[in-house]
Amino acid sequence: MLGNLFLVRTTNDATKRTARLYEMYPPDRLVVKDTNYYNLGYWGPGCTELDHAAEALADMVADRAALKPQDTVLDVGFGYGDQDFHWVETRGLTRIIGINITKLHIKVARERAAERGLTDRVDFREGSATAIPLPDASVDKIVALESAFHFDTREDFFAEAFRVLRPGGLLVTADILPMAGGIPKADIRSHAIKWIRIMVDDANWYPSATYGTKLAKAGFTDVNVTSIRDNVYEQWRQYHVRRVQEESFKRRSSSLFYKMVAVAHRDQDLLQRELKSLDYVVASAQKPADDRR
Ligand SMILES: C[S@@+](CC[C@H](N)C(=O)[O-])C[C@H]1O[C@@H](n2cnc3c(N)ncnc32)[C@H](O)[C@@H]1O
Repeated sequence: MLGNLFLVRTTNDATKRTARLYEMYPPDRLVVKDTNYYNLGYWGPGCTELDHAAEALADMVADRAALKPQDTVLDVGFGYGDQDFHWVETRGLTRIIGINITKLHIKVARERAAERGLTDRVDFREGSATAIPLPDASVDKIVALESAFHFDTREDFFAEAFRVLRPGGLLVTADILPMAGGIPKADIRSHAIKWIRIMVDDANWYPSATYGTKLAKAGFTDVNVTSIRDNVYEQWRQYHVRRVQEESFKRRSSSLFYKMVAVAHRDQDLLQRELKSLDYVVASAQKPADDRR
């Protein structure tokens, strides 16, 4: 694992670096309990479990995208596929195409789809957000649930999403951004969020107003970028404080992974201070219905 970490740090190509990082975290190296969600979650009142918060975030994205059974949906950066299985079950979706650059995620998500008898509804493929392997105007909705900050670049993804969406189609993202006026990315010191320094390119590190401008520049209308940061970071931090104290987490994890999480969350004052510089948004944007490009 430490050798892999060295490999991640020394890989120059951003997409390869991202895939290498995720290859290091199979489902038994996650901090969730019952699912394989891999996001920070939307923590509504009374929510204390990351599994529930992560699913609530998936619900929020689905609502924003107004997912309907007849939609062809593209999920970019599907992780282990949890939100797709959830959307099939709760929204009656019959056609989801997922693309991902991490081979482990593709393999495990495909196995899970097969176990659930969903391979005719959920199609997990290898592919990158910035070179989407689909024809122009071929999907109704595109979602990127906590993945677009990785893309090389996010702006190139916006252009690709615009190309692949049918006129009138919607793009919805849940994304990590800096707060305007927050500490520079290079100054982040907390081990729990230091990954941002190497895993998010400078080209993707801009606040929500710029995010909206870039969506509009790509051709989208009805751009809406909403901060949900107050229901994300602090609750996520507190969950980790509890999680590292739980015997069940120690038992489930290898000693190295347990130690990594415990060490990463040792300095809570520093983490709490630095989280103030992070925003978390849910953004939606529409390809104009009369677009004939
Ligand atoms: C933080 S995880 C989120 C996973 C999932 N959406 C969830 O919420 O559980 C980010 C995902 O984006 C994928 N990813 C990163 N860069 C990508 C790219 N350029 N194209 C497609 N997927 C990418 C990663 O492999 C990973 O599966």
